Amino acid sequence: MQTYLVGRDMITPDEWTDDEVNTIFEVAVDLKRKRALGEPHALLRDKVLAMMFFFSSTRTRVSFEAGMAQLGGHAQFIESRTTQIAHGDTAKEIGEIVGRYCDGIAIRQVDWGVGNQYIRDVAKYSRVPVLNMQCDWYHPFQALADMLTIFERFGRDVRGKTLNMSWAYASSYQKPLSVPQSMITLATRFGMNVRLTRPPEFKLMPEIEDLARENARKSGGSFEVLDDFDAGFKGADVVYPKSWGATLTTTDMQESADIAKKYVDWIADERRMALTNDGIYLHCLPADRNIEVTDAVIDGPQSRVYDEAENRLHVQKAVMALTMR
Ligand code: CP
Repeated sequence: MQTYLVGRDMITPDEWTDDEVNTIFEVAVDLKRKRALGEPHALLRDKVLAMMFFFSSTRTRVSFEAGMAQLGGHAQFIESRTTQIAHGDTAKEIGEIVGRYCDGIAIRQVDWGVGNQYIRDVAKYSRVPVLNMQCDWYHPFQALADMLTIFERFGRDVRGKTLNMSWAYASSYQKPLSVPQSMITLATRFGMNVRLTRPPEFKLMPEIEDLARENARKSGGSFEVLDDFDAGFKGADVVYPKSWGATLTTTDMQESADIAKKYVDWIADERRMALTNDGIYLHCLPADRNIEVTDAVIDGPQSRVYDEAENRLHVQKAVMALTMR
């Protein structure tokens, strides 16, 4: 267990060692237990987190804000469009200035080709930890919450369990690649057999797939890429069918939406869930109900979406308590 994590940024767990990632889970479970028992845990009294949003959010905003209050501190909700960022505040200025006012800076910036670099630029100039609330490449706290939900179902030894990280059709908007990219690199570290199932136009970044492959080699798990939606469900212990954009095929959102329409039958339904090994269903939410997943599945007995959403709170509190002291 690595315990000295004060001052560390969380941009992706790929930059944290196995021991450090395991520390997050141990602390998250402890904080979850404390909250369940009503035990005070004001570990960040008088500390302030700046939460900077360049994109909308429900779960991330509410869980970070609640988490800081439960830790005895305060979280500021800041929207880029209602600040001088809209008039030219640079990443350097945000890092320097907000880092002097606050004890942590959390950022959501999902614009393709912009978000990850922006967060890294802020981190370069910030004297306090920078936490990635989702960028174009990664959604670290989502993947950590997903992994904790998997541990709660199967125990901490998930070697040999099969996770199907799958594309599914959605019509609402072209979503970032960040959730599947974070999930395949994290789950392969724990020896899971990870399937990435997606139509050919919905590829992930090759370097992320290479990292998942390398993680699987080191952990004794496996990583394979499929393009058959039903095959991804067969025998899986965990299924995670969700939409993302055809971003590596086209950066034109309308063109991406048009390509996606070829795959409207990629919906998680009861027939497909019956193909699994009594697997659990995960989704980061929001989901396009009855387009991406049927009500019967997302509200059904195999769904863990509410535990998964709750676990965002606990893993985020763990990382804040470890890094912002
Ligand atoms: N899963 C997730 O990040 O939800 P929000 O977009 O509502 O924050």
